[in-house]
Amino acid sequence: MAETLYIPQTTAHKEIYESLLSQVEGLISSETDTIANLANIAAVLKEAFGFFWVGFYIKKENQLVLGPFQGPIACTRINFDKGVCGYCYRTKETVIVPNVDEFPGHIACSSASKSEIVVPVFDHTGEVIMVLDVDSDELDDFSEDDKEGLEKMMKLLEKTFTV
Ligand code: SME
Repeated sequence: MAETLYIPQTTAHKEIYESLLSQVEGLISSETDTIANLANIAAVLKEAFGFFWVGFYIKKENQLVLGPFQGPIACTRINFDKGVCGYCYRTKETVIVPNVDEFPGHIACSSASKSEIVVPVFDHTGEVIMVLDVDSDELDDFSEDDKEGLEKMMKLLEKTFTV
């Protein structure tokens, strides 16, 4: 496993994801412990982009429960009918929120969070078993490049699930 992350010196998210994807694959593909992989993915995204908050909410019984993350402390439990995370869970689609104040039901874990993207993670049966939540302290910070890059990264994660 590489000990340091290489981050291209550019502000173009697309280019950064291209570099990160092969590095993340190297980091997680031979590790079967999901929590370890979630922790490293959160660290990679935080270090590479400096996002305000990056983390996972994992489906446990009838709620989404806080998993590995990087950033300030956050709410621990989200009902399926609440927040951007709950919306992503229900629709099984990536959700980009350019302005969190305009998303009905957005859960504000921090008033510093201004925009957000949430990406579903699937098991082999097609069920959503967790979501990746990335928050920015800038408005409109996420584009289709982020959607594409993060979805590809979540596909790499899904390949590591043993069941
Ligand atoms: N904003 C999320 C809640 C999680 S925190 O942002 C870390 C939501 O509305 O689901």
